[in-house]
Amino acid sequence: MLIAGNWKMYKGPGATREFFRAFDPPDGVESVLCPPFGSLGAAVASGHTIFAQNVHWADEGAFTGEVSTLILLELGVKGAIVGHSERRQYFGETDETVRMRTAHALEAGLRVIACVGELEEERERGETEAVLTRQVSVLRTHESLVVAYEPVWAIGTGRTATPEIAQEAHALIKSLLDVPVLYGGSVKPENAEQLLAQPDVDGALVGGASLDVESFTAVCETAARLSRS
Ligand code: PGA
Repeated sequence: MLIAGNWKMYKGPGATREFFRAFDPPDGVESVLCPPFGSLGAAVASGHTIFAQNVHWADEGAFTGEVSTLILLELGVKGAIVGHSERRQYFGETDETVRMRTAHALEAGLRVIACVGELEEERERGETEAVLTRQVSVLRTHESLVVAYEPVWAIGTGRTATPEIAQEAHALIKSLLDVPVLYGGSVKPENAEQLLAQPDVDGALVGGASLDVESFTAVCETAARLSRS
């Protein structure tokens, strides 16, 4: 199982070093942390596996505010999140830019966590399957690709998909693409077990609960325990 922590725009280099001084993940689970760009160097220095939160599709160029695969690789970063719903909602990310970012990063040798997920209105209108199918259609199976299913209504809201909702969406995604699928959206120590126990849930993308070293470690420990059983 893979447990990834998305720190979003939290933790500068000092707080990053403090987290890693205390972070001792259990065996039997792969843990990845995704700090903001300015803290990547401090995070890589810890020796843990580090991903960025975004990556551009060009090697270099006049793209203010973006970061390239070459820069990430030089820093020792191993992968990137692509297409997070906050990128889609606030920064104009589209299925096409997700396609370009993902394809280029994989080609450059980075791993990718590509995020998909429906809005609340889309679920209410019965469009979940169509939305997920459309978002996944720009991706191709690759050994370094992982998809994260993150229902937008469950991100940062404290609302979690029921294990049944997660399982149904994961099974759909896996019928379209042969890659591991992580669940994301208010994952915390209290609900990790029932979500991770679903047959098509291969790990988690944890936001808020990954900022606290104890709660992130607790989610990793649950995953390690389930992997052993
Ligand atoms: P959350 O965020 O766990 O705080 O809901 C998840 C994510 O956005 O990846």
